[in-house]
Amino acid sequence: MTGPLETRTPSFSRIELAEVTSRSQTNLLGNIHGGEILKLADSAAGVVAQRHSGGPAVTAALDEMAFLEPVRVGDIVRTFAQINWAGRSSMEIGVRIETQPWDDTAESLHVASAYFVFVAIDGAGDARPVPGLRAETAEDERRMREAEIRRAHRLAKRAEIEAGRRS
Ligand SMILES: CC(C)(COP(=O)(O)OP(=O)(O)OC[C@H]1O[C@@H](n2cnc3c(N)ncnc32)[C@H](O)[C@@H]1OP(=O)(O)O)[C@@H](O)C(=O)NCCC(=O)NCCS
Repeated sequence: MTGPLETRTPSFSRIELAEVTSRSQTNLLGNIHGGEILKLADSAAGVVAQRHSGGPAVTAALDEMAFLEPVRVGDIVRTFAQINWAGRSSMEIGVRIETQPWDDTAESLHVASAYFVFVAIDGAGDARPVPGLRAETAEDERRMREAEIRRAHRLAKRAEIEAGRRS
């Protein structure tokens, strides 16, 4: 029998990725396709979920992704991802994306943010338990509190839709 899992802090699994965008990622307007940014965010969140849970994890849900500014060819795209909350088998990962033109040292621009729900899975694809999350800072505590509010809304929305379908 296995004992309770050790708790982990957000800093244990937090990551930052950077890449330079290219022409192959553009939409018809010549800017970077929103799907490319979404993929980047999903991949970064997946790494965090894998690190925190110590094994495979899949994307279960994504809250709306706000695209705040266009991303252009040649921009340096920085993706910051960290775990905000951990439940029994699910985790909320927050992702923030910033850009900076490759040929300019102008301040970074916040271009997109999203919250992902990942679920840790075992070899059979079933949900498996994840370590608890231990806040280290007041900011971590704020993120945990806000993630709990988002989770309550997600579950309530799902329950209401399912009840509507049954009736
Ligand atoms: C994610 C998946 C494993 C969940 O399986 P499930 O049988 O619904 O599992 P459970 O009902 O036991 O739920 C597991 C956890 O996920 C959470 N969860 C599942 N769907 C959710 C959703 N849409 N929104 C928020 N949380 C969700 C549950 O609340 C639960 O959290 P907890 O264990 O922390 O309390 C399953 O739906 C799946 O494999 N989906 C496909 C994932 C995938 O392939 N993603 C890649 C994109 S192509």
